Amino acid sequence: MSLTEQPPPSSTPGPDPDSDGDAAAAQLRDRISADSLTTRRDYLRIVATVSGGLAIGGVGVAAGILHRHGDSETLPEAKKVTDELAPGQSVAFRFPGEEDRAVAVRLADGSLVGYSAVCTHLACAVLWREDRGADGELYCPCHEGVFDARTGEVTAGPPPRPLPRIFLTEQADGSVWAIATARSGETAKDALCRQFGDNRPEMAQQLNCPGAARAATTERRST
Ligand code: FES
Repeated sequence: MSLTEQPPPSSTPGPDPDSDGDAAAAQLRDRISADSLTTRRDYLRIVATVSGGLAIGGVGVAAGILHRHGDSETLPEAKKVTDELAPGQSVAFRFPGEEDRAVAVRLADGSLVGYSAVCTHLACAVLWREDRGADGELYCPCHEGVFDARTGEVTAGPPPRPLPRIFLTEQADGSVWAIATARSGETAKDALCRQFGDNRPEMAQQLNCPGAARAATTERRST
């Protein structure tokens, strides 16, 4: 993993995450904290919905032909990205699969953001440039594509879609973990609900995912 020095603190406010998802996530986090049976992975998942930095906060697409980040209907295994990531640093990693290039950035204000490092134009590698603007930027050298570091939105060049997001969380020991992905332009709540799906109906219910209540009831009856 390579760490890259990044720019000084930014005054730019963070993104406005999906409000329903955030409220539900906060509620869910409280419940999870009191649940002695909660697994560590569950905790990671929930924390991921809480901050816009985490994602709140997938990978490569070329005209829908190549493998796309976030296509999975199930949550991937959580993966440790790095032991620590200081403000102004970035790290390259692979997630959710070994072929899926990704990048995590700790913005100067402490927010964690993660993205697919595969350009949504023609799948070139996206690079972190710390010396552009208050937050730096994600840059594709193939055709001068530029993505906003906080949101993944396209700010210049030919890329047709935002970078798919990767949900990151930080543990008490400072380690940074990748825990889930979102498709390009997909909200955090939609991404988590899609991946919880039928696999974790109770969790989906607590996030107020569409159809989750019915699925959870069905599961309880069957156990
Ligand atoms: Fe990235 Fe064309 S491949 S801008």
